[in-house]
Amino acid sequence: MGYKISIEKTKASHINEVDFNDLHFGKHFSDHMFMADYSDGDWHDCRIMPFGEFLIHPALTSLHYGQSIFEGLKAEKDSDGNPVIFRPGKNVNRFNISADRMAMPEVPEELFMNALDKLITIDRNWVPSTPDSSLYIRPFMFATEKFVGIRPSEHFRFMIFTGPVGAYYPKPVKVFIHDKYVRAFPGGVGYAKCSGNYGAVMMPTREVQKMGYDQILWLDGIHHRYLQEIGTMNVFVIIDGVIITPALDQGTILDGITRDSMIRLAENEGYVVQERDVSIEEVVNAYHEGKLEDMFGTGTAAVVSHIAEFHYKGENYELPPVEGREISNKLKARLTAIKSGKAEDVFGWLHTVPVNVYANL
Ligand SMILES: Cc1ncc(COP(=O)(O)O)c(C=O)c1O
Repeated sequence: MGYKISIEKTKASHINEVDFNDLHFGKHFSDHMFMADYSDGDWHDCRIMPFGEFLIHPALTSLHYGQSIFEGLKAEKDSDGNPVIFRPGKNVNRFNISADRMAMPEVPEELFMNALDKLITIDRNWVPSTPDSSLYIRPFMFATEKFVGIRPSEHFRFMIFTGPVGAYYPKPVKVFIHDKYVRAFPGGVGYAKCSGNYGAVMMPTREVQKMGYDQILWLDGIHHRYLQEIGTMNVFVIIDGVIITPALDQGTILDGITRDSMIRLAENEGYVVQERDVSIEEVVNAYHEGKLEDMFGTGTAAVVSHIAEFHYKGENYELPPVEGREISNKLKARLTAIKSGKAEDVFGWLHTVPVNVYANL
């Protein structure tokens, strides 16, 4: 079944108000947004409209009980100037995994992709071509039933907006490894991209930021021992030439698309990659033995963020200079080149937005 998307274009683009040579992350919004509503078992009123505010009811259940999920992906321009999106099918899949965990309806891939293609075609001038910049795409869904009481909502809204962004972490990050607060535990919602996962870490994150750190590197919620992930990134360590990243099987870690891409690229380059439990003791021991070569985070926003330093139980551990981190620099360069269509897309990761098909919208 096809979903019809109605289109209302803005009368006045505000693109000239944005300085594309000075883009900040998350502060600029393109001219249009997509919206669809769900009730009686299906999506309806699918529409693209001018970006802007909308009215909500004070008893909207997502505001009170957090039945709300989101995604984050990016589009760039390839060398022919066409917008390309990096692995959007993985985001659709993960969105629907999050939806399932939060008792929310699935968004069919056909609707999701059609909405993305049309929205980005209409706002194609917003896809930056300046270095280190891209169009960030934010799909999200929230419960819209109006009642007070705890049960899954039966009404939902699915939306997508976009905005041009620059670098997320302009320099290597300092992370704090917490031995008090935890983010996720088996049986919980760690693997879902639900809003509550982010709300719950605001206070501990604010605390460590006051101490001069950028993010928390979370340890597992039971033993407080095994690495999980960083605020908005998966984590990798390189010990003695072996690339190690925490395994996903506990359901506590987000199945990062950059993580998966780095693993596949690393294997393709002939490196040994291990997805397994990695304890903080192993990392600290490797550090003292001079075998900890690298630690970095991966995520859509930052792609690869090197860790300059980590803190654990009162000690700061400084990592080798970023320039010398050969493996991660090489993988980052290749991934960045693939994402912008500058290196061969050997894995078939790029989705080219069919602007010619929708150009007359
Ligand atoms: C908690 C968390 N972990 C990891 C990631 C990285 O995932 P991806 O590479 O798909 O952006 C993100 C960002 O989406 C995140 O929010």
